[in-house]
Amino acid sequence: MTTGSESLVFDPYDYQVHEDPYPLYARLRDEAPVYRNDDRDFFALSHHGDVLDAFRDSTRFSNSYGVTLDELAWGPDAWRAMSFLAMDPPQHGRMRGLVSRGFTPRRVAEMEPRIRELAVEYLDQVIEAGSFDFVADFAGKLPMDVISEMVGVPVADRAEVRRLADLTVHREEGVIGIPEAGIVAAIELAAYYTEMVAERRKHPTDDLTSALVEVEVDGDRLSDEEIIGFLTLMIVAGNETTTKLLGHAWYWAWRNPDQRRIVQDDPGTILGWIEETLRYDTSSQMLARLATEDVALHGSVIPAGSRVLLLAGSANRDPQAFEQPEEYRVLRFGRDGAESRGAIASFGVGRHFCMGAALARLEAQIALEELLARVQTWDVDQDGCRRVHSVNVRGFAALPTTVTSR
Ligand code: HEM
Repeated sequence: MTTGSESLVFDPYDYQVHEDPYPLYARLRDEAPVYRNDDRDFFALSHHGDVLDAFRDSTRFSNSYGVTLDELAWGPDAWRAMSFLAMDPPQHGRMRGLVSRGFTPRRVAEMEPRIRELAVEYLDQVIEAGSFDFVADFAGKLPMDVISEMVGVPVADRAEVRRLADLTVHREEGVIGIPEAGIVAAIELAAYYTEMVAERRKHPTDDLTSALVEVEVDGDRLSDEEIIGFLTLMIVAGNETTTKLLGHAWYWAWRNPDQRRIVQDDPGTILGWIEETLRYDTSSQMLARLATEDVALHGSVIPAGSRVLLLAGSANRDPQAFEQPEEYRVLRFGRDGAESRGAIASFGVGRHFCMGAALARLEAQIALEELLARVQTWDVDQDGCRRVHSVNVRGFAALPTTVTSR
């Protein structure tokens, strides 16, 4: 029924896969374009065309069971933790429509000066020291603080909110599921947000939470529970992913000195650098879907009710879509990276296309601009690097670096 050679095993929980999944993806594309894993009970699509088609086809490939393999997060209740990311039409359209009245491109663009201030604050603390952990001291802090800034968490509470947010997404080695500390943190965070929403109902400000409280479309409004659900989704979807994008940009430029020279000589290519990093080693490696009917593909049938992994990380390395995909080339999509639109799978495609893509790109642009302005050159301690072990997110948990400042 399915294609795939006996010896080909793709297990997203395997630490070796986390180190370097790309050779395995190449084999999946060649030998098993509709891959079946009985032990973990999923199918996987790895071709660029198949992954993008499935993203677009939300009728046959449903989000209603969530988007992750994690047992506790997969099922009809997934929307409770992941809001409209785990919904299909019409519920998805209603929620996303209401939220996007508050989460507007203008609101994102207006964040620019504050993101820059936040980035500079952290960089001023670490660049002088000459050696620091790129993740713990910089990239792991900025995205959550940007989310907090946007939704209106006061500066005094940010470190605590960041601690709780990090705990909710942290997974322990060898443990499948959510550690108890993560559950406790999620409850505390929800309680914090509940209070914040109640406060904004009484005394609105100009932050995103107040905008969400006030949104109204034809008499329809967001409930407190729905607003809190969205605030939580921003953390799940927008915190670690952006941290990992920054880490990968720093790391892959270091590993490819000729490419690093291009961005250092001409910071006008930073946007191109970001797009190529998104393609080459995306933090969102795979998104799960539920097949709602039998799907025939490449001579196989994916039965209705199956779990299907869309391997965005593989789509981004498919030679059918990208010339010499194993090469990291910061000018691949042009100096401003504009040619990546519609080509890379990193932000998904279609109705669930990442709502924070513009924010993630803006954060990365500012962070890298401010870094290049301060740093003459940098080195990475390869032996000290550690990757996270999560099925959905790929990237560094530790990235020790030394810099020579300008
Ligand atoms: C490099 C950083 C990021 C990456 C790689 C990324 C990736 C993605 C992907 C692949 C999806 C689609 C999931 C699917 O189709 O199942 C998605 C959805 C989403 N992302 Fe992002 N994301 C990033 C940053 C952000 C940020 C900064 C935010 C907001 C603070 C955000 C908010 C969202 C939301 C709300 C959705 C759900 C959209 C929907 O279901 O309609 N993301 N993201």
